Amino acid sequence: MMKADSIAVLGLQWGDEGKGKVIDFLSESCHAVARFGGGANAGHTIVVNGEKFILKLLPSGILHEDKLCFIGSGVACDPEVLETEISELGKRGIPTGGRIFIDYGTHLVLPLHKVSDGVLDASRGKGALDTTKKGIGPAFADRASRIGIRVADIFDRQALALKLNTLVNAHESFLTEIHDETFIDQTNLAQDLSHYETLFKSLVTDVGPKIMDLIASGKKVLFEGAQGALLDIDFGSYPYVTSTHTTTGGIFTGLGIPPSYLGSTAGVFKAYMTRVGHGPFPTEITDDFASELREKGGEYGSVTGRPRRVGWLDLVLLSRTINLNGIDKLAITKLDVLDGLDEIYVCESYEIDGRKVSDVPPNHPDFYNARPVYTKLKGWDKPTAGIRELDKLSREARDYLDYITEKIGVPIWLISTGNSRDDTILVGD
Ligand code: GDP
Ligand code: IMO
Ligand code: MG
Repeated sequence: MMKADSIAVLGLQWGDEGKGKVIDFLSESCHAVARFGGGANAGHTIVVNGEKFILKLLPSGILHEDKLCFIGSGVACDPEVLETEISELGKRGIPTGGRIFIDYGTHLVLPLHKVSDGVLDASRGKGALDTTKKGIGPAFADRASRIGIRVADIFDRQALALKLNTLVNAHESFLTEIHDETFIDQTNLAQDLSHYETLFKSLVTDVGPKIMDLIASGKKVLFEGAQGALLDIDFGSYPYVTSTHTTTGGIFTGLGIPPSYLGSTAGVFKAYMTRVGHGPFPTEITDDFASELREKGGEYGSVTGRPRRVGWLDLVLLSRTINLNGIDKLAITKLDVLDGLDEIYVCESYEIDGRKVSDVPPNHPDFYNARPVYTKLKGWDKPTAGIRELDKLSREARDYLDYITEKIGVPIWLISTGNSRDDTILVGD
């Protein structure tokens, strides 16, 4: 097979790197965009001509009216969110008919999963993850336990009744705690699901072969990552992670395609860092400057509105997630948020129990004791905000980018200088 003309766009930090903006921008030159993981815990923001869209389930190519959008079986689909998203886009003048496809095997997130998510996270007490409460953990746990309900199940009511019975029994002990029968009333559940039969009939397909056919016929496909590498179920800061593989491997299992169909892999990272929810964060800023940076960057969760924790760029983690994903090119976002700072800090190594360490797995207990060792760089006065040509960036902003490239050894290929689709600089092809 010739080299596949496809590109993966993956988050390299703790999510919210600006994937939605970058993917929307890149979609223009693609035929289709495919989501392979996560669920409605994702919030991908796109701003076009001053109009803002936040997508939770639909791929970020959907605003381009001629692009196909796929949701693979690696995604957990909350049908309520999907229905609302499609209808909201319709109201805002974005037609979606005939260009959204979802796999037969995609698991459904039901109301009981969302309730279980809250009960389970609260039961962790001080060790709570602070999940998005979108039912992600319980829905993926049911998938692994082989008691989940999939899109295909909606079309066979008799079999569905049996499956719901098993599912409800498994969740009962949790849900009786909240004294609300509606979440586990099987008649209700079956009725709710039958409401989505028509919707899913119009969307359901065998996603993997469809994508392979497109790529084989020379059409470019973009694989859209959700969350970020540091939230990967195995390689992130476990247990403070999400419930799927957010890294390259997730593309193949989440869509049902082999690795030979992946052309290149781009990684998105912010010029600084954020994290929403609990868990270790070595370069976190906790003084007054944190609120300044949060306000300047608009760092509030796109799904839950929670304030995001903020910190300096961590090159130890970035190198690791670049290697983990096999990234060949980088997209840096929110460079403009650093405009006007006298100094910018970058973490190049850690100190752990008096030792200098330049690599430690984020899922290792030592990671909790990692103290950042910083290099101080010069900031810039001339704003980068809204700049669309590389040579219009100030010398100091260019130095910051060159410094990162030199340390990381992977080229920066896209620079984002604002939330709008057009505030983007593409360096090379
Ligand atoms: P995603 O989950 O990775 O798609 O990222 P989110 O949408 O959750 O969060 C990124 C936020 O930053 C959104 O509010 C975007 O509109 C915004 N954004 C993206 N790129 C830029 C940029 O280069 N500059 C600024 N100022 N905002 C950006
Ligand atoms: P996007 O795609 C940022 C975080 C939650 C929590 C942890 C587990 O917009 O980058 P979950 O609900 O998945 O069980 O929560 O993961 N989290 C995200 N943080 N961006 C996301 O998605 C996230 N999806 C989940 O805040 O800490
Ligand atoms: Mg987000």
